Amino acid sequence: MVFESKHPLVKHKLTLLRKSSTEPKKFRELVRELAMLLCYEATAELGLKAITVESPMGTAAGSELVDTIGLIPILRAGLGMVEGIWEMMPGAEVWHIGLFRDERTLKPVSYYNKLPTSPTIEVCLVLDPMLATGGSAVATVNILKNWGARRIKFVGLLAAPEGIENLQSAHPDVPIHVAQIDERLNEIGYIVPGLGDAGDRQFGTG
Ligand code: PRP
Ligand code: URA
Repeated sequence: MVFESKHPLVKHKLTLLRKSSTEPKKFRELVRELAMLLCYEATAELGLKAITVESPMGTAAGSELVDTIGLIPILRAGLGMVEGIWEMMPGAEVWHIGLFRDERTLKPVSYYNKLPTSPTIEVCLVLDPMLATGGSAVATVNILKNWGARRIKFVGLLAAPEGIENLQSAHPDVPIHVAQIDERLNEIGYIVPGLGDAGDRQFGTG
C-alpha cells in the first residue's frame, strides 16, 4: 500500500523544502515538521488497549498504546526525521542503520548496524526522506526482517515511481507513507523534480 499525503500543511511545507533558496536551518525545521505530520498519518492504525484514569472530576475511560515502537532512521538523511516524531512518542526506541549509496552503482553500502540479537520492538518506522531507486529502503527492511521484525512501515518525504515499485515488489507487506511521489529518476539516480541531496541540504555539506 502506498499513501501519498493529501494534507494541505504537508503540501505547503514540501514546496518550501524543495526551493533551492531554503537554507539548511529552515530545511531541517521543515524535515522535522513534515516527519511529524507524516508520522501522524502512518500511525493511524496503531493498536490501543482500554484503560481507565482518574480525572479531578471522576473516572474516565481512556486508551493506551499497546505496541512497542522503534524509529529506524537511515543515516544520515533520516536523522532529521527522528526528533519531532520522538517528541510525540517519547517511549519509542531509536535504532540507527548506516547506509550510503555508491555513486557509481547506486547500490547501498552498509556501514553501521548495532541491532541487538533479538528484536525489542513490535512496530518499526523506517525513516528516510528520499526513496529514489529504493535500494536503501529495501536493504534496511531486509536487515529488520532478518533481525525478526514483523511489522514495518516506511515513512519518507519524496519518492520516485522506481523506488516505490522496487520496495513494493521486494516487501509488499511494508506500507509506504510519503509526502509526494515525483515524476522520475534522472540518469544519476536523483529524484526529479525532487529537492536535491537531502543529506547535504540538512547538514550544509553540499
Ligand atoms: C540518500 C537518501 C537515501 C538514499 C536513497 O542517502 O537519504 O538513504 O540516498 O536512494 P536509493 O533509494 O536510491 O537507495 P545517501 O546515500 O545520499 O547518504 P546520506 O544520507 O548519508 O547523504
Ligand atoms: N538521495 C537524495 O538525497 N536525493 C535524491 O534525489 C536521491 C537520493
